[in-house]
This record gives sequence, C-alpha cells and structure tokens, in this order.
Amino acid sequence: MAKNFDVVVIGGGPGGYIAAIRAAQLGFNTACIDEWKNKDGKPAPGGTCTNVGCIPSKALLQSSENYEEAAKHFGDHGINVGSLSLDVAKMLARKDQVVKQNNDGILFLFKKNKVTFFHGRGSFAGGAQGAWEVKVGDETLVAKNVIVATGSNPRALQGVPFDEESILSNDGALRIPSVPKKLGLIGSGVIGLEMGSVWRRIGSEVTVLEALPTFLGAVDEQIAKEAKKAFDKQGLKVELGVKVGEIKKGKGGVSVAYTNAKGEAQKLEVDKLIVSIGRVPNTIGLNPEAVGLKLDERGAVLVDDQCRTNLAGVWAIGDVVRGPMLAHKAEEEGVAVAERIAGQHGHVNFNTIPWVIYTSPEIAWVGQTEQQLKAAGVKYKAGTFPFMANGRARALGDTTGMVKFLADATTDEILGVHIVGPMASELISEAVVAMEFRASAEDIARICHAHPSLSEATKEAALAVDKRTLNF
Ligand code: FAD
Ligand code: NAI
Repeated sequence: MAKNFDVVVIGGGPGGYIAAIRAAQLGFNTACIDEWKNKDGKPAPGGTCTNVGCIPSKALLQSSENYEEAAKHFGDHGINVGSLSLDVAKMLARKDQVVKQNNDGILFLFKKNKVTFFHGRGSFAGGAQGAWEVKVGDETLVAKNVIVATGSNPRALQGVPFDEESILSNDGALRIPSVPKKLGLIGSGVIGLEMGSVWRRIGSEVTVLEALPTFLGAVDEQIAKEAKKAFDKQGLKVELGVKVGEIKKGKGGVSVAYTNAKGEAQKLEVDKLIVSIGRVPNTIGLNPEAVGLKLDERGAVLVDDQCRTNLAGVWAIGDVVRGPMLAHKAEEEGVAVAERIAGQHGHVNFNTIPWVIYTSPEIAWVGQTEQQLKAAGVKYKAGTFPFMANGRARALGDTTGMVKFLADATTDEILGVHIVGPMASELISEAVVAMEFRASAEDIARICHAHPSLSEATKEAALAVDKRTLNF
C-alpha cells in the first residue's frame, strides 16, 4: 500500500535533511529518503558533506594542523616536544568518529522533528501533479511535493576511473591508510588545496597539477597571490598551465605524463594520485524519465531561481542544480523551498554566499572581487589591512595575510570582502552580515571591535577604504 506524505525529500545531505526538518517544522507530514550506508551497512545520512566532504576534511585539516604546529611552531613558544610521531590509523579513526557523531545527530533530528526516514534509493515511479510517486525498496510514497536533493559526484578524468587505491576521489583521499611519500593531485581547486595541505603537513611531498594558467582564478587576485606565496613557502608545489596526458598505474604507484606551461613534456611519479577536477550533478537511480523531469546539458536538474523544476510540485536544491556547490547554499535553498511550499516567501541571496577554503592560511570571501568590479566598470574604493599589524595575530604567531574591503566609490556600500589569514572562516561572517544589511565600509569602521582580536583587522580594513587606518 502506498504511503502518503505532504513532502518527500530525495537525498539526506545538507540540502535534503535541512529541507525535511524545515518542512516538518512548518507542519507538513514529511519523509526523507537517503541511500548512504556506513561500513556496517547502517544509514549514514548527511550526504557528501558529512560522509566524504566538509566534515571529514575539516577533521583531518585540524589533526594535520595540530601536528604541524607541534612539529614546527611549538618551539617558538618555548614548548619543546621530544620526538614527535603520528598514528595515522588513530587520526583516521577520530575523523570517522566525528563523521558518525554527525550521522547520528541527523537521525536524532529526524526523530525530534517527526520526519519519517527511509533508508534506500528513491526513484520516481510515475504519478502526476498533486500525487507524485516515489519508490524506495518495496514501498511507494505518494506526495504533492517532492524535493530532489541528490547532490553530486566527483568528476573523473576521461578514461581514468577512480579505484580509490591509487587513483583517488575525495572519498579515497580522506582515508589513505599511511602517509604517501609522494602525492600527486590534479586540479588546484578547493579540494586540491585542502587535501594537498592535509597530506603535506604530515609528511607527503605534494605536487598539484593545474590546467589553468592562473592560481585560484575565482578568488580576488591580490588575495590569491598572497595565498600562493604562503603555499610556496610551505612547500606545496603547484604547477599551473599544465596539460595532463597519459596516466599509468604501475606497481605501487602512478605515473602522470603532462606538458608544462612552457610546452615541455614532463612526468610525475607518485605513490597516490588524487583527481580533484570538479564535481558533476548526481541523478543516478532517480529515474527522472518516469515523470519527464528535465535536466540541463550538464545533467543538473533544471530549475528557475526559486528551485522550481518543469513539474508542478517537484523542486530541486543543492549540488544537483545550478550555482555554487556548497553545503550552506544547499541548506539555504532547502529552507527556502520548504517555506515556498508553505506559501511563504523563502529567499536565498546569491550575492552574500560566503566561500571558505580551509587551508593555512585560510581564504574566505563574500561578494565581488576587484577583477569582477573592473570588468563590470563599477567605480570602487579598496582598503586593505595586514595581519602583521594586528596584535592578536602577533600573539597567535600567525601574521600571514590581510583583510581587504571593496566599497562603492560613491555610496561606500560594501561590495566585497576578501580575507587570507588566520580564522578567515570565522571573520567572514561579519562581512556577510554587513552586506546583508547593505552596510557601508564606514559602518564597520565605526563599530567597536574587541581588543585584541583578529576582527580588529576587519575594522582597520574598513577604515583603510577611507585611507585612515589607525594601526598601520
Ligand atoms: P549531498 O551532500 O551530495 O547529498 C546528497 C545525498 O543524496 C547523498 O547522501 C546521496 O547518497 C543521496 N542520494 C542521491 N541519490 C539518491 C537517491 N536516488 N535516493 C536516495 N538517496 C540519494 N561545502 C562547504 O560548504 N564547505 C566545505 O567545507 C566543503 N568541503 C567539502 C570537501 C570535500 C572533500 C567535498 C567533496 C565537498 C565539500 N563541500 C563543502 C561541498 C559540499 O559537500 C556539497 O556542496 C554539499 O554536500 C551538497 O549538499 P547536497 O545536499 O546538495 O548533496
Ligand atoms: P574545483 O572546481 O574547486 O577545482 C577544480 C580545479 O581543477 C580547477 O582549478 C580546474 O581548472 C582544474 N581542472 C579541471 N580539469 C583539469 C584537468 N584536466 N587537468 C588539470 N586541472 C584541471 O573542484 P574540486 O576541487 O574538485 O571541488 C569540487 C567542489 O566541491 C568545489 O568547487 C566546491 O564547490 C566544493 N568544495 C568546497 C569546499 C569548501 O567550501 N571549503 C572544500 C572542497 C570542495
């Protein structure tokens, strides 16, 4: 017998599980279907983000940063550690435990909010407007509203499938059982830099091969340049403008033939190769044909700016639709769609979605870059403040980087904030709030910031827009 719901969510990643919770909060009888399993075959909701993305990568980034601090920087504080050793198995087990706490947390939240959870693959089985049918295992769920939140998968190089032994996606990259002597990465995007940092900090010799001639092309140029300087100093080798050729797996390693920026033929021999060249929307097993759900040429579910698909009552959110592939973007869309189903005016402001790259130094930004403003012919003022002149950063022993403000030349409205440096991931929130409230640079410059704190660099960068920094 079919089970009736008001809302069925397919996918329990950050987009799907948050959409389900919000729909239930709004009084809808809601189901969420997710197929992810842990090693024991048990449900592991939370999607890519929780299982093989945001959460485990940040756990390993923290462990590896602690190791590097102890190895290279504790001495500066007069703390002498004798001989330092690393238990990789324990580091990975801690990461798995962090993941499990998050999986369990989501199952608890489903119970608390009375969301019915189905473990398995959800596929469209037919139906029509007002009563869509979704199959999961032997059950058929019928709902007026279906939210597709099936996420994304890693993109492989053509003809080079992931084996997760020597050619790794983000999944394998998060569970290499021992530190590879030589590690190669293809793609110096977000995953390339974060995973490259993890394994470099704990002893791998890391080489990243990037096709584009510019480093982090989407990042403000001045910030990207500062970050590159720091990565070079750390020994994270990034080769830009390469053309990757044949990739061969051999005994215990991988060889990558490539042409460098000068057009010279090169070979990179590594123990493991991580391929991080972007992700593709996932609709495997969804059976969109059964209902005529339209996809675009990239395989993403086609939606309008409200996340409506071509079918009335069928919505799609997160990585499976257009826009940045970020967990918080998926969550915001999930909340907005649940509210729209309830007849409310859910809203996602794409201009104020922050980005963070959790390397050391961290890189974070919101709004427009200087190169975007120039290209659009917008007249702007820029202000920067280096962490070198910030007392808290000196006390931390981490003075790399800066905060940069871009404000409209006439109105002083903040158009973009870019940070490279310590705790950029936390500092960026102030800029997001300011931009949501359409603040001017002067607003931030006039607000009292705690001393000593890294946030004073934000205030000073806002003052710098008007060329009146106090501490630099
Ligand atoms: P997903 O998280 O991919 O979830 C989709 C879920 O749907 C999965 O559980 C999948 O099994 C399930 N599913 C798919 N099809 C079906 C079906 N037919 N039936 C049932 N279930 C199905 N973003 C950030 O914002 N910050 C970060 O720090 C960050 N770090 C990342 C690190 C890595 C290594 C990676 C790979 C990604 C990272 N991301 C980060 C991106 C983030 O993980 C994604 O943007 C986010 O997970 C997208 O959420 P989603 O709900 O759209 O999809
Ligand atoms: P990405 O899009 O960030 O970077 C891919 C890089 O690979 C680009 O620089 C691209 O030019 C390069 N590339 C593509 N094809 C290539 C080729 N054939 N040879 C060499 N280089 C090539 O993708 P990535 O790193 O795989 O991450 C996927 C997505 O996951 C990110 O875009 C982001 O949305 C999300 N993510 C977010 C994180 C965060 O918010 N901190 C962390 C990790 C991932």
